[in-house]
Amino acid sequence: MRHSKKLGHMQHLVKEDCVHRDVYLDEALFAQEQQELFANAWTYLGHDSQIPATGDFFTLDVAGQPFVALRDQEGQVRVFHNRCPHRGAKLFAAESGRLDGRFIRCAYHSWSFRLNGAPISMPLKEGYEGTNMACSPAGEGMKPIGALQVYRGFIFGRVNPQGMDFRDYFGDVLSSIDLMVDRSPKGELQIEGGVLRNTIACNWKLYLENINDSVHPVSTHESAVRAAQSVADDWNLGTNVPMAFEQILPFGQRYDFFKEMGGQVFPHGHSISGTKFSIHSGYGVMPEYVSALQAAHGEARTKEILERSPQNTVLYPSLALKGSPQTIRVIRPVAVNRTVIESWNFRTVDGPELLLDRALTYSRLVYSPMSVVAHDDVHLFEMQQQGLRSNANEWISLHREYEASETAEPTRMCSGTSELLLRNFHRAWVTFMTSESQEA
Ligand SMILES: [Fe+2]
Repeated sequence: MRHSKKLGHMQHLVKEDCVHRDVYLDEALFAQEQQELFANAWTYLGHDSQIPATGDFFTLDVAGQPFVALRDQEGQVRVFHNRCPHRGAKLFAAESGRLDGRFIRCAYHSWSFRLNGAPISMPLKEGYEGTNMACSPAGEGMKPIGALQVYRGFIFGRVNPQGMDFRDYFGDVLSSIDLMVDRSPKGELQIEGGVLRNTIACNWKLYLENINDSVHPVSTHESAVRAAQSVADDWNLGTNVPMAFEQILPFGQRYDFFKEMGGQVFPHGHSISGTKFSIHSGYGVMPEYVSALQAAHGEARTKEILERSPQNTVLYPSLALKGSPQTIRVIRPVAVNRTVIESWNFRTVDGPELLLDRALTYSRLVYSPMSVVAHDDVHLFEMQQQGLRSNANEWISLHREYEASETAEPTRMCSGTSELLLRNFHRAWVTFMTSESQEA
């Protein structure tokens, strides 16, 4: 290890315009990220439509620890550490499901709990008389996650009980969730079509950087676009453009398009690429849908909802949104060189079926490991992870469109091709890793 792992030295790994390769390669730093970053940040856990009925649950790991999200008897979303208070077994083994009864029972020694986590009973109760069990953590029932917030159906959690307030942490970037949810005339989204999980042999930050890297499509996705264009030319599509072509062909835009589409960064690592327009702006408009939105949200808000189709909004460090098509990606770090990416699709409640078709088609075409787009990205993330072992240069360049004034301005507009969108992730990373976030 070439660097002291003292927290005070962390900023030496992230300069204003470049990043040291250790932030992608070093196992000790990965372990520290789980504790300092993922346990203190607000991370996306799931959507409340995944658990519509009492007893519905899903499990997940955050900051290297197991959790379970469930719907209790009062209809509340609860998130607990997925660990029996007795001897530590995970209480929920499945990825998701619905409990048979109205209580949770550990499969190991049959300790049982209400859906709000309160203890009910355990066998051989008399054996605890005169012991400290009842006033120890074992007697307190299931331990909730440090902090929980359901924002318009999006479930966020913070593992550590102390830390930044939810609204202070996300600030104005929450408006991207509002825009996505308000695409439903009812203001409600529902997860549909299952989840695609893609395990990639790269550090999570390489994937995250790519989400707001608008320069790579020109080269990385050139062959996919060329193949799609040649089929489109053969078919002589005219105005009758099938959905797959409507979605793939805009990947072939040139550098000036991506530069002009604009970007914006926010405090705490969040960012938007495509503030003015994006490769999603040209999807067909449906007049009946526009009328339904106008009736629900008014004319001005409808215009805003439909015209704003950023390429991506990143809610650092775990979630990326595409307002149109209605899809999200979730970043789940597993090891320093292993990341699971989930992609989920939304139905817009009371919206046209076509919007769900767009989400599902986009996921198949762009996010699926079998897609014509993701396999090129994944290949390059893995090449990057391997190439960084080279001693040719220990630093990754993020110099594009760097300006010295940007560090003093945490909310800032930039071009769609500025690497400020990426530098902003790393500045948030330093803040978390040096624990300044907890002092704030
Ligand atoms: Fe890509």
